[in-house]
Amino acid sequence: ETVRILGIPGSIRKNSYNKMLLRAASSLLPYGATLEIYENLHLIPPFNQDEENNPPEPVRELKRKIKEADAILFATPEYNYSVPGVLKNAIDWASRPYGDNSFDGKPAAVMSASIGMLGGSRAQYHLRQMFVFLNIYPVNLPEVFVTFASQKFDSQGNLIDQDAKKFISQLLVNLVDWARFLKQKKVAKLT
Ligand code: FNR
Repeated sequence: ETVRILGIPGSIRKNSYNKMLLRAASSLLPYGATLEIYENLHLIPPFNQDEENNPPEPVRELKRKIKEADAILFATPEYNYSVPGVLKNAIDWASRPYGDNSFDGKPAAVMSASIGMLGGSRAQYHLRQMFVFLNIYPVNLPEVFVTFASQKFDSQGNLIDQDAKKFISQLLVNLVDWARFLKQKKVAKLT
């Protein structure tokens, strides 16, 4: 059975390296998997708990896409040693209201790209910390950190780093295997 992956970027920048990473992942998918890249992050308004029971349409769409996906692939920048506000904000919406957390029980994997020498690792660990409360089942390895991102893509936005491609391919294999494995099992859910 096909494993449908939803790719969620942590950046809304047009030439985002993290969006390029998701596009690279599209071309490195193992057999039997698809990847849809979520393109509407810029439409998600600031979270307001007054609206969580009746969220605006872009939030409904995001929640629907997450629920329909068999697995989630995050690709996030690091902002001030953490997860960008736009991504945190979208996750907050998608996790609410209480009892309707779209991420509940989902397998997920994480990649990050940064222009610095740590490749967004600190943001990844903050994101993985959120997974605990979200009840996301993460793939631990390989850790995909794309360091010095400005040197790793060509002018068309193609990933040109062979090691990064190898790690992304392996991460995708692991994510797809993990999603298939979890589908057979009764995963503990919050609700
Ligand atoms: C950054 N950047 C950055 N990089 C890093 O490695 N660690 C950090 O803590 C930060 N902090 C940070 C804060 C803010 C507000 C901005 C705008 C940028 C640089 C970051 O890696 C770079 O802008 C990437 O290109 C962002 O990813 P996208 O948009 O290309 O996907």
